[in-house]
Amino acid sequence: MAVNNVVHVNECGLPLNAVDWLMKHHQSKLQERSQMIQDLHLVAGSLVVDAGCGPGLWTPLLAQAIGAEGKMLGIDISAEALVTAQRRSSNTWYRQNVQYKQAVLEQLPLECGSADLIFSANVSQYLPEPAETFAAMGPYLKSGGRLVIKDIDFGTMCFHTIDSMLQARVFQARERWEAERADNGYAYEDSWVGSKLSEYLRAAGYRDVEEKAYRIVRHYPLPENFRFYLRGIAEWFVCEGAPYLSPDDVTAWLQCFSDDPGNMLERENFVYEETEFVVSGVWDVVQPRFFADMHVDIEHIEPLSMVSK
Ligand SMILES: C[S@@+](CC[C@H](N)C(=O)[O-])C[C@H]1O[C@@H](n2cnc3c(N)ncnc32)[C@H](O)[C@@H]1O
Repeated sequence: MAVNNVVHVNECGLPLNAVDWLMKHHQSKLQERSQMIQDLHLVAGSLVVDAGCGPGLWTPLLAQAIGAEGKMLGIDISAEALVTAQRRSSNTWYRQNVQYKQAVLEQLPLECGSADLIFSANVSQYLPEPAETFAAMGPYLKSGGRLVIKDIDFGTMCFHTIDSMLQARVFQARERWEAERADNGYAYEDSWVGSKLSEYLRAAGYRDVEEKAYRIVRHYPLPENFRFYLRGIAEWFVCEGAPYLSPDDVTAWLQCFSDDPGNMLERENFVYEETEFVVSGVWDVVQPRFFADMHVDIEHIEPLSMVSK
């Protein structure tokens, strides 16, 4: 296992975003992701935006939830991901109900006040100003529509069979590096964003903010796709030169995930846990204050007779 300088990077420079990586990651957590969509209790016939849709992996789950009368718009900055999304949906029953377009989260290619729900999975970690972006997305929702943000939080990760001190050093080193890596030419990233999402949605002006935590637990023997996921994550923790980790720690860490005898994934007592967060908030159209303000002003105008004195 080599320490890659970049790990499963896409053409936009985002690590852990390459299409094949996203597909295997999705498969490895399909059970929990299906549950996340079921728990949204989407209304049949809704218009749903998948913001940062990548290769369209959530589209089948969303399509099933909103039914044949529903409509979906997937947007992403990655042309490569959108081509895959389009191809994946081309032979499905919902192909007429979904469109994919290249766009950024803040400028969605649809009319203001038209979406019932905007869903965005595993994208908020790349937003330098999440509250500002969420606020910019609100006006595309109908009044009473929902923004749903799903993301990871690597502060919740635990590899039960790996030395806890080594884990702590690896995690702390990456968290410290994430705070600075954007200043060193890498794309912005906050892999600890999950538990901060509620706060960001409230700051962006959403009401009735609700957080659901999904515990993801896997035991030995691991399915191949989950092993692929963990190996990718392990490499990602020490990529880009791992400036705050000693070379010995890098070696010891990678050995835990290698095919060598030190491999922890093959131990019968291996257990891995992490928590992912799904946070939703309701958007109300802010009523224009113009008429209300005028009413107050008129009441306080002095009678004409007094003015003429
Ligand atoms: C980790 S992938 C997640 C893809 C998909 N949502 C999923 O869960 O499988 C993040 C995606 O967000 C896209 N992305 C990142 N920043 C974005 C932005 N500001 N506007 C639109 N898309 C963005 C990336 O190109 C990438 O396809």
